[in-house]
Amino acid sequence: MHNESIPFDPARDPIALGMSGALDGNVARFAQPRGPDLLRRSGALDAWVTLRMRHGVWPYARVPEGAPGPVAEVAEHNGQATRGINFASHDYLSLAAHPAVHEAARRALCDAGPHSAGSAVLLGNTGHSQVLEAALGALLGLEQVVLFPTGWAAAFGAITALVHGADHIVIDTLAHASLRQGAAAATRNVLVHRHLDCDHVREQLARIRAADVVNGILVVTEGLFSMDADSPDLPLLQHLCREYRATLLVDVAHDLGALGPGGGGVMASQGMTGRIDIVMGSLSKTFATNGGFVACAERSARRQLQLFAGPHMFSSALSPVQAAVATASLGIATSAVGDALRADLLRNAVELRALLGAAGLHCLGGPSPIVSVWTGSEASARVAGMLLAQEGVFVNPVEFPGVPLGAARLRLQLMAQHASGQLRRGARLVADACTRAGAGRPARAMGQERHRG
Ligand SMILES: Cc1ncc(COP(=O)(O)O)c(C=O)c1O
Repeated sequence: MHNESIPFDPARDPIALGMSGALDGNVARFAQPRGPDLLRRSGALDAWVTLRMRHGVWPYARVPEGAPGPVAEVAEHNGQATRGINFASHDYLSLAAHPAVHEAARRALCDAGPHSAGSAVLLGNTGHSQVLEAALGALLGLEQVVLFPTGWAAAFGAITALVHGADHIVIDTLAHASLRQGAAAATRNVLVHRHLDCDHVREQLARIRAADVVNGILVVTEGLFSMDADSPDLPLLQHLCREYRATLLVDVAHDLGALGPGGGGVMASQGMTGRIDIVMGSLSKTFATNGGFVACAERSARRQLQLFAGPHMFSSALSPVQAAVATASLGIATSAVGDALRADLLRNAVELRALLGAAGLHCLGGPSPIVSVWTGSEASARVAGMLLAQEGVFVNPVEFPGVPLGAARLRLQLMAQHASGQLRRGARLVADACTRAGAGRPARAMGQERHRG
């Protein structure tokens, strides 16, 4: 078990010796290089990434072999491939391997070819995309659905289409980059509220409405936060939005299909299906393909999205194969088979959290497909991730800008098909790696005090 009282000191730790520089710094330092030559002014970034690669602590852009699944073979940057347990892909209900999903892809390829060949606003729609829109609308209880090429595009497109410069946005401090970047592009009137803190939301709405009764306010949150595995009080947020004539947008990328009765996500668990103003999400976590969507009850808002969401209007639509895969996955997720897969997934989440907790590690949030193990320091996340990859356990070490500075963690993503033996071996090796890397518990209660760097 690791010792909480000894902070990781790269200058003294035996693993870190000889890794000088590779454990220091973060990408924030390189975000805005100076100089007139746009192509060559990122030399310092290149040197830092190369150094980290050389020391095995650059966990990004590795290449897995084969389809996503509980076991993967992953090629490191030095070309060496390791086979091991995969906690680093999102395929929460294991639908990427489901025979009916593969069959749907084959049929769509034969019927409609591999390509949408146009934006949805031009001739990029297909029968497959229309069926998907209807199926999503039924699950969400919101019939006006607009599809996007990715979840990122859906978030950015929705916010920038619906909100303009005179409007206001109130957004959770831990909201996903797609939502934050959409907010920043839409208006300068962005207020960030403390994570999950509805009192803070109320305060900010009151402050805005005291000065402006004319313009719109969009409140932005997530159904299941992608790094902290926790959820807001959706009924209260929607109530506050009504009270202050604001509009609520909830990103359900990580919970729709994977959690909640019938796969309806946290919204369904909280009795809010069909009662949230705007719901957006991704197909890539549970529905076995790339793609995103935005749904609401207002036809006029759908028109606004179709014509003013850049990634819908000016980007090619989902391919027929992607749409058919998503529809088949949705069909399974909302069936009795989906209930059984969700039960497997939740059992895995409870078991893995219990194993990690018993080993003295701190898992953020509650049981869900996302199990985030707190390390705090970026250096310890890097070292633990490297040690795990060497042992054949693939996790995502997450640091700024994915999470705030000093709030690094190892993010493990579960699938319904992970076996108990894989969880036990994984937990033991995660605990060993965290001990060797000096990962510690958070000093204070999570979420409230942290701010994105
Ligand atoms: C909360 C959240 N929203 C949106 C996205 C973007 O989804 P996609 O991968 O489909 O672009 C992600 C992906 O990581 C996410 O975590």
